[in-house]
Amino acid sequence: MASMMYGHFSLLFVLLFTLDLTLACRRCPDPPKPVEDESHDKKTWLFAVDGRRQPYNFLDNDGELVGFDVDFMHAVCKAAKKQCKMVLSEFTECIYTHRDINYPGRGLMAEWFDGCPGFVTAVDREDTFDFTDPYFDTYASYTVAPGNPSSFDPTSNDFSQFKITHLTGAVTNSKCLARLKKKVGTIIVAADLPEAKALLLNRTADVLFSPRSKIPGLEVLPYRGRCDNGGTAIMTKKGSRLASWWNPAFKSLVESGEFDRLCDASRAKYNSRIRCKTSPTHSIPSDSEHHHDKVWLFSASGRRAPFNYVDNEGRLVGFNVDFVQKVCEVAGRKCATVLTEFTECTYTHRNVNFPGRGLMGGWIDACTGYGDTLDRENSFDFTDAYLMSDSFYSVAPGNPSGFDSTKSDFSNFTFSK
Ligand SMILES: *[C@@H]1O[C@H](CO)[C@@H](O)[C@H](O)[C@H]1NC(C)=O
Ligand SMILES: *[C@@H]1O[C@H](CO)[C@@H](O)[C@H](O)[C@H]1NC(C)=O
Repeated sequence: MASMMYGHFSLLFVLLFTLDLTLACRRCPDPPKPVEDESHDKKTWLFAVDGRRQPYNFLDNDGELVGFDVDFMHAVCKAAKKQCKMVLSEFTECIYTHRDINYPGRGLMAEWFDGCPGFVTAVDREDTFDFTDPYFDTYASYTVAPGNPSSFDPTSNDFSQFKITHLTGAVTNSKCLARLKKKVGTIIVAADLPEAKALLLNRTADVLFSPRSKIPGLEVLPYRGRCDNGGTAIMTKKGSRLASWWNPAFKSLVESGEFDRLCDASRAKYNSRIRCKTSPTHSIPSDSEHHHDKVWLFSASGRRAPFNYVDNEGRLVGFNVDFVQKVCEVAGRKCATVLTEFTECTYTHRNVNFPGRGLMGGWIDACTGYGDTLDRENSFDFTDAYLMSDSFYSVAPGNPSGFDSTKSDFSNFTFSK
């Protein structure tokens, strides 16, 4: 009956490594440098699409996966002399949103495939993914019910009187509105377009924030804003080598005019408006000597301010993020912090702490901010500790059960952790 909150060890102190990762390194001599000539890469690079995005990727009448994404992938891979294949996968294996944070999908993290075509680059996705150079243009628009019944003005900086909806996982979200310096009130996240449409038509929401130029039955206002960092691109796992050969090959297609020809041909073939970038921007080529270096991935849930959290505008920041960068700099290693749910590091089942799928499956190399405890040493290795750790007891306001933490018999109390 008496319910006490047991202050779980404030979980924020040490980096934790899987046992076998560290053991493997201790037993082996220095691994040989990968002898790899990029032009004779034997790997088949896999790209994943969900087959529901005509004209980009869809199943034709015969059931064959076709579309611009498929044609474009083959053109770039041919120029790069790489073997590539497209596979069908639900989009949630690439990305999903949980409690307003974008997390990378299992398929990308577990390397079922290497890239997800057709994702918009944005500040709040760069905490989670790497991207190739963008190949499509995109924008953000505001859509209202016919006749704009709430008189919504997209040029105003104060949207606080309006109820705004956006689709889950979209880059047209509250973080983008914050970057655009808009003052917002109510935000309603819609599961899909039909739901967003219903919200506008029954006046639960006043405006839909999306990248669309046309939505049947609604009015897309002419104003255009930007949530993206350059457009639509191939999204990869952080630290992926894909962009290091994809970008130069894509650049060569742009320079030879082949990309423009592919876009024109696709517009005719798929009878569709395809927003190819007219002047794609190219990233600085990665340092060829280092682009095979392993990028060590450190996981962060994004929910532990001030250690790691997603700020108002969508950037992953915090002490642990800065600390990892600093140690990696000193160690001369490439490192990145990637958002993943904490259960990918560790979870508790029937009172036993088990190591998570992400750590054991090699999605990530380490998890920042975990207390180095005896029961965790059954499953994990730890780096040297870098933060102090304390344990606390929390009770409901006023301590209604009269819990006394100085006593040694807690048998009358129920603990939650
Ligand atoms: C408006 O539509 C949404 C989405 O279909 C629904 O959940 C909600 O209950 C509706 N509200 C009203 C007032 O009809
Ligand atoms: C536990 O509760 C019982 C019944 O209220 C009481 O008699 C007993 O002294 C309590 N034990 C402790 C250790 O507080």
